[in-house]
Amino acid sequence: MKKFLFVILFSTLLSASTQVDVKACKKCHPIIAKEFAISMHKRASIDEDKIHKAFWNIHPLKAKNNYICAKCHTPDYVGKKRAFTCLSCHAIIDIQKHKKSNKNIYSKKPKTFYSAQKGKENQSIKFKLTSSWLGTKKSTGSAYHTIDYTHENFYTGEVCMGCHSHKQNGKGFTLCVTDESGAKDKKENCITCHMPKIDGSATTVRITKKHAFHGFAGLRVSPKMLSKYITLDLQKREKGFEIIIKSDVPHLLLTHPARLLQLKSVIIRGDKRIPLKKETFVKINGTNKRASLPWLATEVVKNNMIKAKEKRVIPFKTSLKSGDRVEVTLGFYLINPKLQKKLHLMQEKELVKFTTLTSHEFFIK
Ligand code: HEC
Ligand code: HEC
Ligand code: HEC
Ligand code: HEC
Ligand code: HEC
Repeated sequence: MKKFLFVILFSTLLSASTQVDVKACKKCHPIIAKEFAISMHKRASIDEDKIHKAFWNIHPLKAKNNYICAKCHTPDYVGKKRAFTCLSCHAIIDIQKHKKSNKNIYSKKPKTFYSAQKGKENQSIKFKLTSSWLGTKKSTGSAYHTIDYTHENFYTGEVCMGCHSHKQNGKGFTLCVTDESGAKDKKENCITCHMPKIDGSATTVRITKKHAFHGFAGLRVSPKMLSKYITLDLQKREKGFEIIIKSDVPHLLLTHPARLLQLKSVIIRGDKRIPLKKETFVKINGTNKRASLPWLATEVVKNNMIKAKEKRVIPFKTSLKSGDRVEVTLGFYLINPKLQKKLHLMQEKELVKFTTLTSHEFFIK
């Protein structure tokens, strides 16, 4: 009995000092925790992301049970289960650059989290509780953890680059890259665009008007939050007209090679709808000039994806008439329709449909 008690005591002590109970975060950061719960970071695992699972199911390493994806998709543990948690970001102290993919260096200091806040760039705030004789208490900082605001990575977006920078396959071919330039500027970077400040308090303890969005706006969660960074324009020409896509984004508009971006345009003339040719933008990896699955790829087969900060002009031969309206829609398929069947995802209606990123209707004078 005594031995049994000792084991329990010892293990609770051990877990209190080496593991953090992520459920606790919810108590003092309920809005952020709720957003995180629906984010693609929280759902990056095989259990929760059907697209990730579909790729893993046909991956050659699956037979060997060598889940190398964990490094970025589920870097932490909750109990014995691998997961993406708050600490997958807030415990990052450094990013090591490597050829195959970068590596996050995580802090081993118990209950010390790293973050950013304007005006506190030089501070590391430990919880302080000053209690008087009569039991009235006054606190500064968080009662649960120390916050270190001194790491520049949290101000520039570099903290995202341990996982998002680039990835090579086993053949040494670089499958995807997110330009470093998006993680340099303190005014505009990965964080300011993908975690915009929205209404609601960051904690229940110290009330703030706004907090950084922890759903991480992207293709799968709140894509409309990002549409202001893409502008559509139309220019009439002597013969025909042009549609101009202007991107203010410092990386390829869609970074993941499985995606397909598409521009759809329709002329509305009286009660007639005249659809125009669709324009498709992709970055396709493959081998011997043909598309292939990622682990077999050795070259970029096609890349007409909208580039960083590019202004792309797309000419149309059809002449416009006064009174015409032109409906222009820029949207995407999460998985290139040519790949959907291979991944056995046809039944997943939400994952195979076309989704609008931004659209505009032009009135022709
Ligand atoms: C007992 C309440 C409490 C719990 C539990 C708690 N926090 Fe906090 N946390 C706070 C408070 C209060 C602040 C703000 C402190 C300040 O502004 O001085 C804070 C601030 C933070 C910040 C820094 C925010 C910034 O200003 O940029 C991070 C990151 C953070 N918490 C993460 C977590 C994580 C992760 C967990 C769970 C493992 C957690 N917190 C659990 C109370 C708590
Ligand atoms: C170096 C970090 C890293 C590793 C290792 C990694 N991934 Fe990813 N993965 C990412 C990032 C970052 C994204 C999101 C990037 C984007 O959308 O451009 C992502 C996105 C994906 C997506 C798209 C998910 C969706 O919901 O549409 C798939 C599929 C995927 N990864 C499969 C895998 C598989 C399978 C493995 C292991 C064989 C793997 N990844 C290993 C970082 C990584
Ligand atoms: C100026 C704003 C802006 C900045 C800065 C920015 N992005 Fe983006 N990002 C976008 C837009 C717009 C899209 C495309 C629309 C969407 O995904 O909803 C996008 C798409 C993405 C996607 C989803 C791509 C996909 O195929 O699913 C990822 C992942 C991403 N960005 C990561 C990053 C990272 C990491 C950084 C920092 C290095 C960064 N972004 C910097 C605006 C920005
Ligand atoms: C993908 C990385 C990532 C994950 C996962 C993440 N955060 Fe954050 N968090 C950040 C970054 C970056 C900031 C700094 C935003 C800024 O510039 O204010 C931040 C800011 C915060 C803040 C301060 C918000 C504000 O606007 O003052 C709190 C509190 C916080 N995080 C708590 C959490 C909690 C709790 C979780 C898990 C439920 C979590 N974070 C998960 C990256 C992350
Ligand atoms: C520990 C690794 C890791 C870190 C750190 C990380 N991410 Fe991610 N991120 C991922 C993975 C993996 C995915 C793909 C998840 C999936 O779809 O299965 C992803 C997906 C995304 C997406 C796509 C969401 C969507 O709706 O399609 C965005 C946007 C994003 N991350 C932004 C960020 C930003 C901004 C930061 C820095 C504050 C960051 N990430 C830090 C691993 C990471």
